[in-house]
Amino acid sequence: MMREASIRGDFPALAQSVHGKPLVYLDNAATTQKPLAVLDAMQRYYLQDNANVHRAAHTLAARATEAMESARSKVAALLNAGASDLIVFTRGTTESINLIASGIEHQLRSGDRILVTALEHHSNFVPWQQCALRSGAKVDVVRVTPEGEIDHDDFAAKLFPETRIVAFAHVSNALGTIHPVNELVSTIRSRCGARIVIDGAQAILHLPVDVRALDIDFYAFSSHKMFGPTGMGVLYGRREALDSLRPSQYGGEMIEHVTMEASTFNVLPFRFEAGTPNIAGAVGLGAAVDYLSSIPRDALLLQEEKLIGQAIAALTAMNGIRLVGRPKERLSVVSFLVEGASAHDVGTLLDQQGIAVRTGHQCTMPLMQSLGISGTVRASFSLYNDTTDVERFVQAMHKTLTFL
Ligand code: ALA
Repeated sequence: MMREASIRGDFPALAQSVHGKPLVYLDNAATTQKPLAVLDAMQRYYLQDNANVHRAAHTLAARATEAMESARSKVAALLNAGASDLIVFTRGTTESINLIASGIEHQLRSGDRILVTALEHHSNFVPWQQCALRSGAKVDVVRVTPEGEIDHDDFAAKLFPETRIVAFAHVSNALGTIHPVNELVSTIRSRCGARIVIDGAQAILHLPVDVRALDIDFYAFSSHKMFGPTGMGVLYGRREALDSLRPSQYGGEMIEHVTMEASTFNVLPFRFEAGTPNIAGAVGLGAAVDYLSSIPRDALLLQEEKLIGQAIAALTAMNGIRLVGRPKERLSVVSFLVEGASAHDVGTLLDQQGIAVRTGHQCTMPLMQSLGISGTVRASFSLYNDTTDVERFVQAMHKTLTFL
């Protein structure tokens, strides 16, 4: 039998017990655990290099600036962005998408349309609803199929000459569906000149992302879902697309020149980074990018895929379990329901056995509404999960079913 590639030892938080049982962490779509390499890099930064960036002539300020800007270059390389000034640091995916939605609003008028899908996380749904409310544009929502995929005919039918923005996830956080970005982008490009916004929060750890090959305008993701720290995120934008956005936060770092009467704004990416940035967060994100390139990611992804297959097969064989969504292309996530039981009760019983999953609407109420359910139990896997995790999850599910 082939030995599993293992990186578990790099993640101290996995080696603990919960309610007296070894932890099985299957809530990776919510946030991943952090490797020592990331924690060490952040601690080293605070112990040795801490200073404000881009401001002072002293040595620590130069080191802090270098640490932050080298993290930006690493992210640019990860995305094949072509230039590091196209990488804006934010607090996370949500802030990245809000930054686009409020920055683009002045370009929209009544009669314009914004297209999103029913599968979106609220973070890629509500900012567009609010943008439409403020600008007079209309939001169209693409239907989801019973399998949990985007309905392609409906997608194409809802692209109008007036569609100015199309926003959708690379991978669904609730069902794990991988959306065919290339195909969707070429459909969009053939029908309208809309800006294309991709929520990459669930994809960035698992899929190679080449923003130039994808031919999109914006790509957003969070550091904490790819082994980096919380409170740190990225917005990539095509140069002309970023240049067309209005800043929505003013002060500090984003200023070029200020007089009593008026102000001018800094170049990219600083124009969108008002205030002292999350320097330690950037250092942690840079270390996470380095860590990802140091592990056998392809082999670990294959292993993760195998684990999901095992979990799906085991759940399918259990009485009273309903899998939610059966997308052809999926990663990381298995969502399901136990007939006659609340998702919350299932999650609590699993937690008693050391198994961490997420329960509820998964921040996707429009999706749950489309599927006619109020929520799911979601087990989400990462590169450090192993067959023991699946076996313990399956045993715990059998036991849980006897309690319900
Ligand atoms: N977006 C995170 C999730 O899906 C919080 O759980």
